[in-house]
Amino acid sequence: MSRIRILSAEVRGKIAAGEVITRPASVVKELVENSLDAEAKRIEIEIGNGGKTKCLVNDDGCGMGREDAQLALERYATSKIGSVDDMELVMTYGFRGEALASIVQVSKFEIETSDGLVGTKIIAEGGLVKSILDSERPQGTRVKVSDIFFNLPPRLKFLKSANWERRLITDMINTYAVICPDVSFYLGDAGREILNMPGVGSALKRLNMLFSRELTDYLVEIDFHLGATHITGYVSRPGLALKHQLKYIYVNSRPVKYPRIFRALIDVYQDPQYLPAFAVDIKVDPKTVDANVHPTKNEVKLRDERYVIDLLCQVVKRAIYKTTMYVDSGVPDSEKDDTFASKKFVQDIILPYGEAERLGPSRATDEFWQLHDTYILAQTKSGMIMIDQHVAHERIIYESIMRGKVQSQRLLFPITLELTPEEYRIYEKTKSTLVDMGIDFKEFSNYTVVIDSLPSDVHVNREEIAGIFGELNSLGVLIKEKAEVARVVACRGAIKAGQRLSSVEMQSLIDRLFATENPYTCPHGRPIVLRWTIEELAHKFGRT
Ligand SMILES: Nc1ncnc2c1ncn2[C@@H]1O[C@H](COP(=O)(O)OP(=O)(O)OP(=O)(O)O)[C@@H](O)[C@H]1O
Ligand SMILES: [Mg+2]
Repeated sequence: MSRIRILSAEVRGKIAAGEVITRPASVVKELVENSLDAEAKRIEIEIGNGGKTKCLVNDDGCGMGREDAQLALERYATSKIGSVDDMELVMTYGFRGEALASIVQVSKFEIETSDGLVGTKIIAEGGLVKSILDSERPQGTRVKVSDIFFNLPPRLKFLKSANWERRLITDMINTYAVICPDVSFYLGDAGREILNMPGVGSALKRLNMLFSRELTDYLVEIDFHLGATHITGYVSRPGLALKHQLKYIYVNSRPVKYPRIFRALIDVYQDPQYLPAFAVDIKVDPKTVDANVHPTKNEVKLRDERYVIDLLCQVVKRAIYKTTMYVDSGVPDSEKDDTFASKKFVQDIILPYGEAERLGPSRATDEFWQLHDTYILAQTKSGMIMIDQHVAHERIIYESIMRGKVQSQRLLFPITLELTPEEYRIYEKTKSTLVDMGIDFKEFSNYTVVIDSLPSDVHVNREEIAGIFGELNSLGVLIKEKAEVARVVACRGAIKAGQRLSSVEMQSLIDRLFATENPYTCPHGRPIVLRWTIEELAHKFGRT
């Protein structure tokens, strides 16, 4: 690392002001970031009483010489930037030159560091340096922070229980452990080991250390490059029904809170019931990121925010739907394109790859079972899936309406409706949208309307049509939204639970479902497909 300098008044003036040390977790965060910036390969953290009595971070990074060690405790002393221009290019976690100075102010502080040539130990308390000594330590840095806020009793009151503070520290370390998988992390509280993670080659291996197999088995990798934007990481497939903490967002490897990205990722899944898991790193040109939004540096602002979020959502969508579509099929990457026929998907996935060809399509239909005339069960190469037939059909109709690809079918027996004045009002309001969706009407006097065509996929009787008008009425102002009307029509027009389906109908349904853009959640957000891997089944049966 280059030598430490005190930032000029110009740069200081541009640095987001504010308190960075609010609790033990912020001390540990700043110290761990310093260790990572110093390219440490092993970081040991020892805390006492959830960090309230002790936060100690020891690393094997580049360390500091005597002069730098002394300077490091000053305000605005940093080796990471020198000018306003550097601030725009910053790729290190730190750049403000304030963290150590802030910690020293509010604690009893010891730093022992060596650059491999000279070892130095500095003891300070409440901002005042008490002694500077020689040290024998090997290259690296050890910072011990005791009795945080000993000189600021009101701040102590804001701290929570030791367990709570420890939890914050553990969660925070986990976020760094995932993005820096080759660094080994140890965390102990009063000598008790809490985390012990040797360096591993990949983020997935780290995730496997931190989270259950049940969760990590659900993850798919994303790795996408476009221009200067590189999006990598892991996201869960839809339908994950586990409580978990894995919602990590990084920008240029910095763990960040980015509510817009968070929201957008949740929306990709359209599943309010189960929150997805994700650990995504968005790498962009540092010039297009402002890391100087908040003094804690855990918020950043992307200049091309909309573009990046759009891209991320597309990448995640493709990964979670395609991976599920192709994961078991053995189809080479080069063939995985959008035009890949959904028919082939059913044969490839439902039957082991290759077998479908040998057995022919008729054999494939034998691989479906209908349970309680409501759910379709199918064997996949890696386990089994269960599909809710009603919501599957709802999704198919909804998407075809929204894409404007509805084929209208003339009814053999047109349906005559004698509408109430209220229903007629709704009919008039929605008529053009409904016609657009493939429902054709003829109007007669006295609120009488005859439906003579329906979308070919929609099967409704008179009561269900009355139900459609009733539901449209309850939409209020949303009645103007095509998507809302489409949801109502799709829900009412879809095959119902309790309807017996033939094998051919089941195959056709699955076939069309997986040709939709989002085969995993219905337009109202309910899950459509549940999956079990053969490993999960074996585990449940006590085989593993
Ligand atoms: N563990 C460490 N190993 C080597 N050098 C360190 C270590 N911790 C701090 N330093 C040096 O001390 C300087 C001051 O650290 P400090 O954390 O106060 O500021 P910073 O990391 O530059 O910026 P920020 O305030 O944003 O964290 C760093 O720039 C770095 O040169
Ligand atoms: Mg720092």
